[in-house]
Amino acid sequence: MEGTKTKVCKVSELLPGQAKSATVGSKEIGVFNIDGKFYAIDNICIHAGGPLHEGAIDPKNCQVTCSWHGWAFDLATGKCVTHPRQDVFTGTYTVTVEGEEIFVEVK
Ligand code: FES
Repeated sequence: MEGTKTKVCKVSELLPGQAKSATVGSKEIGVFNIDGKFYAIDNICIHAGGPLHEGAIDPKNCQVTCSWHGWAFDLATGKCVTHPRQDVFTGTYTVTVEGEEIFVEVK
């Protein structure tokens, strides 16, 4: 099935350590810049719906911690690292950079 690929913003609008939300298809996606590499996960926290792009970013561990109740997610895998014994994952999405623009694809 073809995915929905949507322009999020320019590279210059999402600096290292920053995050923003974007609507891609029917999903709310959080897009993060970790030391110049881009990651995209479901922006609506799977715990109770907190906005993950407003969470605390930990570039060293490539994680974001939800500002509502502290669930932390690995931005690369989507795994909830604060619940290691459960198989708790949030969705991750492909980010591509074309020229000066960042795109996220939802399949
Ligand atoms: S809503 Fe994100 S930790 Fe509760």
